[in-house]
Amino acid sequence: MNTVFDKNICIVGAGYVGLATAAHLMEVDGRKNPITVVDINESKLEDIRSHKFLIGEEALRNVLYSDKANDAIIYSSKLPESDIYIVAINTNYNKDTGNLDTTGIESLISEINEFKNKLVIIKSTIPVGFTDKVIAANPDTKIVFIPEFLRENNSYYDTKTPSRFIIGSYYDTDDIVVDIPELFGYTDNNPIYMTPSEAELVKLASNTYLALRVDFFNEISMYCINKGYDSSKVIEGISRDPRIGTSYNNPSFGYGGYCLPKDSAQMANLANSKLLNAIPDANIEHIQKVASLIVSKATNKEVNFYRFAMKSGSDNCRESATFKVAKAVHDINPELKLNFYEPNFGNMVPDYLNNINNIDEFTSLKGLFVFNRLDDILKDKLSSDSDRFTLDIYGNN
Ligand SMILES: NC(=O)c1ccc[n+]([C@@H]2O[C@H](COP(=O)([O-])OP(=O)(O)OC[C@H]3O[C@@H](n4cnc5c(N)ncnc54)[C@H](O)[C@@H]3O)[C@@H](O)[C@H]2O)c1
Repeated sequence: MNTVFDKNICIVGAGYVGLATAAHLMEVDGRKNPITVVDINESKLEDIRSHKFLIGEEALRNVLYSDKANDAIIYSSKLPESDIYIVAINTNYNKDTGNLDTTGIESLISEINEFKNKLVIIKSTIPVGFTDKVIAANPDTKIVFIPEFLRENNSYYDTKTPSRFIIGSYYDTDDIVVDIPELFGYTDNNPIYMTPSEAELVKLASNTYLALRVDFFNEISMYCINKGYDSSKVIEGISRDPRIGTSYNNPSFGYGGYCLPKDSAQMANLANSKLLNAIPDANIEHIQKVASLIVSKATNKEVNFYRFAMKSGSDNCRESATFKVAKAVHDINPELKLNFYEPNFGNMVPDYLNNINNIDEFTSLKGLFVFNRLDDILKDKLSSDSDRFTLDIYGNN
């Protein structure tokens, strides 16, 4: 008898979501066939095959670059015929339309529709109503939406043990001949079944709440600084209320990364509410306030930015708030010399930033050291009498 473990699986998109899904699925007990990971970026695939692609998250790297993965995952730039397709391609925010760009997913699904009777599981983040639209346009394909909830630098563990398993689907197991919890090895995780549109909303609203929460604690932190109050005591006092809670309350230079900015902007556009529209504006305003404070403190004309990655241990510099702070500092006072240390930044360094690759050289610079998070490397290397600026009250993420 054929089981879910006999099915061929193709994951489309070798990004954070696609790779974490591949790493998790290859370890689900009983899986028989190798998983194919497809990406349009052939040079990225070649780097992954040869283990040259930098996967900053250690747990994910260990699984994907293990001997077992050599046999369990095939990387390809050509879409094969498969039983199940898991879609994990990027959906960037289009400022002109105010929506996530789903054109790549639409053409991918119409290609899959030509194979007839396949199951497509969308994991990419999409606007509310998108799954209904592609179901209507592709009558020979079954399409469900399963939102992905990953914490930065935790994509492997969060895929293995998700905080919640939400299935946005109109089908029962007989319709699609696949038991979805069994497919993902989540048989102990009590799924919440809902319509695809409801599941799409859960995803966008969750990230919007996180962005709002970042804004909130940043506003309180700034108010404390302006008034000379101790923000760590104030925030601890607020957070001990169990209804508010002690997690995700550490002030920062703003929210960033790939998902929070675009998902909260999409949600604000859909809901058209004053509160939701204020979330991105508050983040931009906060970045400006942080930059002004830094300029006022940079008395010896040199500012040293430690890491643009959103969190310590992460390789993700996308939509980096610290990078935006550096740009705003330069715009306010172009006379300041701006140095930075970021091993994962790549080659696109703007003229106004001076890249210092060596951590010892960086930490022996003169001037004001600016960091979003005080990680162990900086704690260890930076002399205790150095001038510092951060909003971090915990010295962690
Ligand atoms: N990064 C996260 O933590 C996270 C969490 C939850 C949801 N998401 C959502 O999941 C999706 C993927 O995010 P990501 O961070 O993995 O993106 P990513 O940018 O890291 O990777 C996307 C990959 O898809 C590839 N791609 C693009 N179009 C393609 C196509 N037509 N065919 C094949 N490959 C294609 C790109 O080359 C890239 O390698 C997005 O919609 C994102 O919003 C991301």
